[in-house]
Amino acid sequence: MNDNLHQLRCFGCGARISGSEVKPDFRCVDCGDLFEVEYPGWAQRKSLDRPNAGALKWLWRERRCSSEALDHSGVWRFRELLPILDSFGNAVSLREGNTPLYALPRSAKALGMDQLFAKHQGMNPTGSFKDTGMTAALSVARERGFQWVACASTGNTSAAMAAYAARAGLRSLVLIPEGKIAWGKLSQAMDYGAVTCQLKTDFDGCVRVLTEIVREAPIYLLNSVNPYRLEGQKTPAIEIAEALDWNVPDHLIVPGGNLANSSALGKGFQEMRELGLVARIPRITVVQAEGANPLVRSFRESRGAEMQPVEAHTRATAIRIGNPASWRKAARVVQSTDGWVLEATEAEIAVAKAELGAEGLGCEPASAVTLAGLKKLRAAGTVGDSETVVLVLTGHTLKDADYTIDFHRGTLLRAEESAGYEREIAALRREARNVDATPGAVLAAMKEAAS
Ligand code: F0G
Repeated sequence: MNDNLHQLRCFGCGARISGSEVKPDFRCVDCGDLFEVEYPGWAQRKSLDRPNAGALKWLWRERRCSSEALDHSGVWRFRELLPILDSFGNAVSLREGNTPLYALPRSAKALGMDQLFAKHQGMNPTGSFKDTGMTAALSVARERGFQWVACASTGNTSAAMAAYAARAGLRSLVLIPEGKIAWGKLSQAMDYGAVTCQLKTDFDGCVRVLTEIVREAPIYLLNSVNPYRLEGQKTPAIEIAEALDWNVPDHLIVPGGNLANSSALGKGFQEMRELGLVARIPRITVVQAEGANPLVRSFRESRGAEMQPVEAHTRATAIRIGNPASWRKAARVVQSTDGWVLEATEAEIAVAKAELGAEGLGCEPASAVTLAGLKKLRAAGTVGDSETVVLVLTGHTLKDADYTIDFHRGTLLRAEESAGYEREIAALRREARNVDATPGAVLAAMKEAAS
């Protein structure tokens, strides 16, 4: 590991250690908090280790035309901002990143806004934003000579980890809460050859079990307590800035589960500002599901100073997390960027997801909390008509096809959950019709649908 260029700083007590000194559970031995990666050379303006903003912008654009495999990765294309490996030859890549920033004209119009964007991280190789973090942290695991990697997951981390481990020839162990993850994600862990254990507990219970395992066995932990994950997950912030010609949006809206992604994107923007790549930082807003809202409660009760775990329930299973590991980091990002912490009900998530689907994008339910959150910010008058907003869509719509089918069949929500949203839901539902196998019957179905 490149201990010359980076070090780990404890987020709680500020203690600094080298990358090779960190304990297997990635917790500070003094205060128990998490670490973040820091690059000491960047702080001194005259340091040769401090990247030059203008040169980087040019270099990163040049790499788009390069024939080098590493340059085709939307994470390693920006490798000057994540010098975490001794040799970039150890990078394990599936050509992640380089995801589209789509315009959402219909949603913008419905919200009375000039424009609206979605950064679709579901367009990564395994269908979620986790690939950007996994390429970074799994490459560290390989460089350090681990044979086994492991994670507890609501499904996407495990899919990504299993794929990258398979590419690197490492064994992988997945702990998932039995019956509480989407089938598409479970199928990926199996397909990529992970040892997949379904535990009779929730995500938070899986984390507890795995934390004990990694303290005893030589297994590299790839949950987002691993700070190298966040180094990869900060790169979509660079992509967003690059796509907007190095102007940052006014607002970035991110779903909140274990709360690493919001932290990582915030870190990305902050570092870009420190290095002079961008002039300012967007307001970062985190949106949780109402039934899995520990950060929302934390802000309501103590402005983000304390957090009590909750027992989490939501059909957006990716963010069914009651005791998020990175809550302090996320709270700091929201506070320092003047953002908000919001929650969305099950009906609000379902409607927002169907609206994104109707715009030809689609995403998994956890991602749709971003649009649901934006509607609240608009209703409260906190986002202006001409402000630039980017929604971070974290997972592909095919990850959880059951959810979508249940919505369109009308079996997703209980009556009390959809109360007040019946008309919106009815307008969005598109049930598959059973039609006789004749042209006349099909044409009649079209006519009926058009009326
Ligand atoms: N969206 C999706 C699709 C996710 O899979 C997750 C988290 C999140 C949002 C929340 O991101 O945890 O960084 O706040 N999925 C986890 C997993 C934890 O195991 O796949 P976060």
